[in-house]
Amino acid sequence: MTDRTISNPLYSDHKMKLGVMAFNCSHGSSITTVDEAWQLSWPETEIVAKMADDAGLEALLPVGRWRGYGGPTNFNNATFESFTWAASLSAITKQIGVFATCHVPLINPVMAAKMATTIDHASRGRFCLNVVCGWFKGEFDMFGVPMRSHDERYVYGAEWVDLVRRLWSEEEAFDFDGDYFHSNAAWSQPKPIQEPFPPIMNAGGSEAGQEFAATVADMNFALLKAHQFDEGKAQVDKLKNLARANGREVQVWVHVYVVCRETEKEAEDYLDYYVRQKGDYEAVDNLLDIFEVQTETLPEGALEQFRFHFIAGHGGYPLVGTPEQVVDGLQTLVDIGVDGCLISWVNYKDELRQWIDEVMPLMVDAGLRVPAS
Ligand SMILES: Cc1cc2nc3c(=O)[nH]c(=O)nc-3n(C[C@H](O)[C@H](O)[C@H](O)COP(=O)(O)O)c2cc1C
Repeated sequence: MTDRTISNPLYSDHKMKLGVMAFNCSHGSSITTVDEAWQLSWPETEIVAKMADDAGLEALLPVGRWRGYGGPTNFNNATFESFTWAASLSAITKQIGVFATCHVPLINPVMAAKMATTIDHASRGRFCLNVVCGWFKGEFDMFGVPMRSHDERYVYGAEWVDLVRRLWSEEEAFDFDGDYFHSNAAWSQPKPIQEPFPPIMNAGGSEAGQEFAATVADMNFALLKAHQFDEGKAQVDKLKNLARANGREVQVWVHVYVVCRETEKEAEDYLDYYVRQKGDYEAVDNLLDIFEVQTETLPEGALEQFRFHFIAGHGGYPLVGTPEQVVDGLQTLVDIGVDGCLISWVNYKDELRQWIDEVMPLMVDAGLRVPAS
């Protein structure tokens, strides 16, 4: 058993923690037809995971996705399942935190608790769980599972997490009699390596989602609803204060998409090329049509403005420019109160390499990261 703040790099001292996200899905987070977009394969998955691990990044995060969005790219139609992905990557990495993203309505908590524990042992205490309550109806239809009303998804999610955490921590068998789960003599051994248990992240952005993250999760994976400083800071402050009002601390992580080039013009030109000229507008419209109906993440009408950011990086926050400009952007996020960035690129292999060589040393110079020991 080990204190998770020691074994799990999500609790490292870096002012800005870093992770790589969505490379378990074809096209990652970029809804674009460019040739260099991420083509999912296991050999390349291993290369990216090992590169991030060797460079001392903190997290590898898969998307929980079961089908694509159509269009010429059929964006995200090919995906590796996230628990088995996490288990496999934990075996070939040494220090990085490894997430699974679990659709709580689709995976039984007794099963999830056990899978998570197994990966926590295999990774020596580096496992992290991203719980998602679901919004993509086509996925639920595949499983033949009805989708609950928006806010009830989080009530169900809280009970699911409660049962998982009890399985992770209670030594004696217990009866669980909730509104959704009834388990006789519930029991799970061994316990996870991490004490008190592996960290849990959630990306709900609605009022109910923020309340869930504040009362149940250890990290909120936020979509910054506005990219101006004051609005961003107000959003992050609200999330942290909501948790504090419940006697808890949550970290706030955000998704960023990165286009880093030698000059600002090159970066802007490439962004224009892969988004405006080569964006898969059919796939993004399919995604946004479903997202609009099933989520309350963004205020009404805001999705249209976010279309560009969805093509560029699944609605993430843009870091576009020279390495120096990218580090300035990271400094702004730290000032807003963000603890960690989960990054996507169009070309993960080449652009992660560049990030490690050109951006990370500047982050150390700027005091955003402590030098590798
Ligand atoms: C940054 C981010 C990452 C997400 N990752 C996933 C995912 O991997 N799988 C999934 O089904 N939903 C994912 N979601 C969706 C959320 O978990 C949630 O279901 C959605 O935002 C709707 O909830 P809300 O109305 O509370 O915002 C993600 C959302 C955000 C903002």
